[in-house]
Amino acid sequence: MQDTGRPAPPQLRTTQVDPDDRQALRAWAVPSRTAFLEAAPTEEGLEDRRRAVRGHRLTAVHDTVAGEDRVVATLRSFDSELTVPGAGPVSVDAVSTATVLPTHRRRGLLSRMLTADLERARGEGHALAALIALEAPIYGRFGFGAATRATSLVLDHARVAFRPDAPAATGSLEFVPARRTDELAAVHDTARRARPGAIARDAAWWEAAGRRGEGRWLGPRGHVVLHRDEQGTADGYAAYDVSDDSVGRVPNGTLHLRDLTATTPSAYRALWEFLASIDLVRVTRAADRPVDELLPHLLVDPRAVQTGPVDDFLWLRVLDVPGALAARRYLGCGTLVLRVADPLGLAGSTVRLHVAAQRCGADGWVCPEVTTTDAEPDVVLPVAELGSLLLGGTSAVALQRAGRIEATPAAAQALATLMAAPEQPWCPTWF
Ligand SMILES: CC(C)(COP(=O)(O)OP(=O)(O)OC[C@H]1O[C@@H](n2cnc3c(N)ncnc32)[C@H](O)[C@@H]1OP(=O)(O)O)[C@@H](O)C(=O)NCCC(=O)NCCS
Repeated sequence: MQDTGRPAPPQLRTTQVDPDDRQALRAWAVPSRTAFLEAAPTEEGLEDRRRAVRGHRLTAVHDTVAGEDRVVATLRSFDSELTVPGAGPVSVDAVSTATVLPTHRRRGLLSRMLTADLERARGEGHALAALIALEAPIYGRFGFGAATRATSLVLDHARVAFRPDAPAATGSLEFVPARRTDELAAVHDTARRARPGAIARDAAWWEAAGRRGEGRWLGPRGHVVLHRDEQGTADGYAAYDVSDDSVGRVPNGTLHLRDLTATTPSAYRALWEFLASIDLVRVTRAADRPVDELLPHLLVDPRAVQTGPVDDFLWLRVLDVPGALAARRYLGCGTLVLRVADPLGLAGSTVRLHVAAQRCGADGWVCPEVTTTDAEPDVVLPVAELGSLLLGGTSAVALQRAGRIEATPAAAQALATLMAAPEQPWCPTWF
């Protein structure tokens, strides 16, 4: 493609933006607003953003053509925690707000910003980076692989009846005021530590959640209901908006579920039963739910829950192969040599993954031994595919059949068995 009229590289400079510098933050918000097809942020919106990104790393690329100084590209990253199978949370470089003005796209600005961030994260000892991809073809070239999936669902309230063997709905429910998010945060924190694929929500996330309104976690009609067990301890919550509608005089309202988190099956059942019983509402719609949602298993008519489409959600980038493989635990046992190729030259290595049955912990999960080696590999795979495999959400057998990893069918099956996890990884948090 011809490059006429495009700024030469010396006109571009990169800075780190301090979120508390309001003018700099306003300039930084321009490319994301334009690239994400959003309206210009209001003063209130800018203040929301300032609070949400405090402590995050905000990269800006400026174009200084014709004496002007305009931010034309952005990237944001922050340190967070990601739960991996069997081992709980590990540190992760969370990447977001990758935007380039349409006038400056396809000149390598994203590549420059993202590569610099990944190099920094690796240098600081992160074994993993994560992001949510707006479009699936963007991030494979940077070594990210789709690691979790999510689905939408629609629940037809008229068809909801719980099976007699479903966990009993004990405890109590109460509405909680908008700003009282402390118990919600505690419930979420317990739940996300146990769910592979989930990332942490920090205090700023919950503070933002407590400010309800258009375009926020909950709109003006939003409600949060908290569940307590019989001892009074909070163990689940549901956050939802409603839209009222009717067909003639027949109520036809819709409940838009924004978040439902429970740490026990009993709280989970109680919350769904409550939602399905709200007067004037015919259906519940939810997005970004786990693909192995428990709800259909609890119902006499599992087709009361219609699911789909299923899409990728969290993408993982391995920055340190031995570190990432050693961070999680395994349920199977075996030994495989993996040769991981990295197009960015950050993490490529050959490792021996050894999981021995006698190292089993009391909970059945096994700590691996991971060592670098010169041995011939059983499996050759790009680093992006390792990101897809790591949380157990993608089968090595499928990747081998698709030609995305090099292995015999037996080696692919051995790797699939090692990586398998009892639950599908799920990340319910946008960042
Ligand atoms: C996606 C976006 C950030 C890409 O920025 P960019 O500076 O144009 O990207 P680069 O020039 O560094 O592209 C690097 C490579 O990725 C490819 N690429 C970039 N965006 C792509 C896309 N949306 N689909 C497919 N390929 C893409 C480029 O073609 C290029 O390939 P090449 O190395 O083979 O030439 C930018 O177009 C944008 O802001 N889009 C709208 C917002 C958005 O989708 N952001 C991503 C949020 S997750």
